[in-house]
Amino acid sequence: MNITFDEKNRVFKIDTANTSYIFAVVDTEGFLGHIYYGPYIDSSDVTYVLRTEEYPFVPSVYAREKSPFLDRFLHEFSGNGSGDFRESGIRVKDPKGHSVVALQYKGYRIIDDKPALPKMPSTFAKDGKVKTLMVETYDPVIKLEVVFSYSIFEDSDAIIRTVKVTNKSEEKIHLTKIYPVCFDMEDEGYKMLTLHGGWAKERQIEVRDIAHGRTNIGTYCGKSSHQEHPFFALLGPDTNDDQGKVYGFNFVYSGNFIGQVEKNQFDCLRVSMGINPENFDFCLESQEEFVSPEVVSIYSNDGLGKMTREFHDLYRNHLIRSEYLYKDRPILINNWEATYFDFDTDKLIAIAKEAAKYGIEMLVMDDGWFGKRNSDELSLGDWDVNEEKIKGGLKYLVDEVNKAGLKFGIWFEPEMVSLDSNLYREHPDWIISVPDREPAQSRRQFVLDLTRREVIEHVYESVAKILRSANIEYVKWDMNRQISDLGSYGLDVERQGEICHRFVLGVYELQERLLQEFPHLLLENCSSGGARFDPGMLYYSPQIWTSDDTDAIERLGIQEGTALIYPLSTLGAHVSDCPNHVLGRNVPFETRGHVAMAGTFGYELDVTKIPMEDRLQIPKQVEMYHKYHKLVSSGDYYRILSYKSNGLNDAYIIVSKDKSEALLTYVQVINRPNRLSRILKLKGLDGSKIYKVEDSDKKYKGDVLMNIGLPIENLNGDFSSVMIHLYAE
Ligand code: DGJ
Repeated sequence: MNITFDEKNRVFKIDTANTSYIFAVVDTEGFLGHIYYGPYIDSSDVTYVLRTEEYPFVPSVYAREKSPFLDRFLHEFSGNGSGDFRESGIRVKDPKGHSVVALQYKGYRIIDDKPALPKMPSTFAKDGKVKTLMVETYDPVIKLEVVFSYSIFEDSDAIIRTVKVTNKSEEKIHLTKIYPVCFDMEDEGYKMLTLHGGWAKERQIEVRDIAHGRTNIGTYCGKSSHQEHPFFALLGPDTNDDQGKVYGFNFVYSGNFIGQVEKNQFDCLRVSMGINPENFDFCLESQEEFVSPEVVSIYSNDGLGKMTREFHDLYRNHLIRSEYLYKDRPILINNWEATYFDFDTDKLIAIAKEAAKYGIEMLVMDDGWFGKRNSDELSLGDWDVNEEKIKGGLKYLVDEVNKAGLKFGIWFEPEMVSLDSNLYREHPDWIISVPDREPAQSRRQFVLDLTRREVIEHVYESVAKILRSANIEYVKWDMNRQISDLGSYGLDVERQGEICHRFVLGVYELQERLLQEFPHLLLENCSSGGARFDPGMLYYSPQIWTSDDTDAIERLGIQEGTALIYPLSTLGAHVSDCPNHVLGRNVPFETRGHVAMAGTFGYELDVTKIPMEDRLQIPKQVEMYHKYHKLVSSGDYYRILSYKSNGLNDAYIIVSKDKSEALLTYVQVINRPNRLSRILKLKGLDGSKIYKVEDSDKKYKGDVLMNIGLPIENLNGDFSSVMIHLYAE
């Protein structure tokens, strides 16, 4: 790991173990020109790539005439409105109403540190092995200082970027767009991989061609969303899981984002990622600064699999703070699909007692325990225990569950208020809404205005008061609608464009405070399933509910897309009842268990009602979880087969870092007649080691397993599965 500045060539070079990122200051004008991002190279004498004197088309006889130059130059970051007609990375509304930003290089600093971002999630180094380059630029006309930061860690190929904008003038200035990443590169026939989705079908891998013009993803709904995900990758022409060039970009943010590739007339690409400028307008007083969230970029020369493992390691080593990161999580049983709103103390205690018999370790009481909430139509915001349902009170219930041998967890949706609630009746101005317009309802609820101090304080106390009242060891923090009607009764006229960003900061503040007061709390984020599964939330919670679709077969695709970036230990995954509540499909209990094992593992069913033969499988699943969790949470993940792509079967293997053991999961989704037993080529093993198949006398050498393969006996029909543990002798 190194960051250097070549004074002679004025070239910045950022080197991770396997990659180099290079840009330069272009002489008099002080533009930053992008030179290279790819496999590690030694030299920094590479400025010829900038071709500053070339003119690409005939009418421009003077190559350095400003507009043609700016419009074809490969920028490291582009200002706005002075002749480069591609997407800009920054825009303002200055006191005279103008939007032009033209940045000039001023200087740089390289430090052996990485300052945390104010009030936002950010990656960090536990061991101090980190370097940060800060490149300072300035627009002397509007007196705007913009500092670009690039951080790298000793043990990672990731480059982490953020940008800080400071108003150095005496007057207010509005920042109306800011992307931490907005750089240009040559197109080498890349395709764009994104994770699109919807409720119950989150993070589906999709690959598209990059045509001329703009290809983008993004959200305007106040969260990272079901529909799009703050991630995209550029794939070289021959890229697959195991080979080829990949550039992955992920935004460490939980609000509106944009990720975009723009192909211009010279077949070059402008790659950008940042806060979505739609409805964004941040007012900076004199000397005030705005710091953007971080973008992580990872280059892999060895396909998507290598990129995935880099992301997993980065997030495990440098983002997730929770003490539970590698710990076995208590195996929980959640009552949502078991009871929905129809439960009381007796029912929950009965579930807990029955669950205890099979080794389940925690009961989570989901939605419906407060106010008058017997349906999703009311009472959000009224966080008082409904003692008609929770007879004897919450402490009594928790104590009884503890006595049955289970821990206790609880559900909240703190950011919301129902139309029919005491809180809304008392404070109708506490919701995000526009005066004189009827705000849009969704699930009969509104979004609380977390840009307001008094609302944050109220929400915090409502949650903390419940947690202080009993031995509650886990919180599921849900968020079940999008943000519309952008208006705040608490913000000045010129700050109304700050609502979405300030709201996200409010969520971060609430979760931070919760973890400060309850440092051992296990927090699980959730948003109508997995609509806020993003790196920002992972800074606060080591696990996130992946999807309301608990059908094991649908989960294969959802978990494949999610695990493309996020470690398996972060994927909330439960065994639920059949027929599945979303799809009506029946999948064997064993397969449901195997698929959920690639996540936090738990149950989402009424254990007092499921067939006895299913109940009797639970102890074995509990034992498997505890046996393999360390490997699953800390190992390297390799995808072997994708049911999403082949329509037949799915397989992945998790290999320990020292390659001494591996866990293979194979799911035969569709059986086929006249089949030989399948020989599955494994990945990630040590070719020279001999691996023993647990519970059998079979042994194979690693190179044989990877090049010829492991025989998988024909399984028993559709939706059957097997998990095979291999260990080196
Ligand atoms: C959406 C979540 O994804 C579900 O698991 C459940 O908690 C419901 N909300 C409760 O309203």
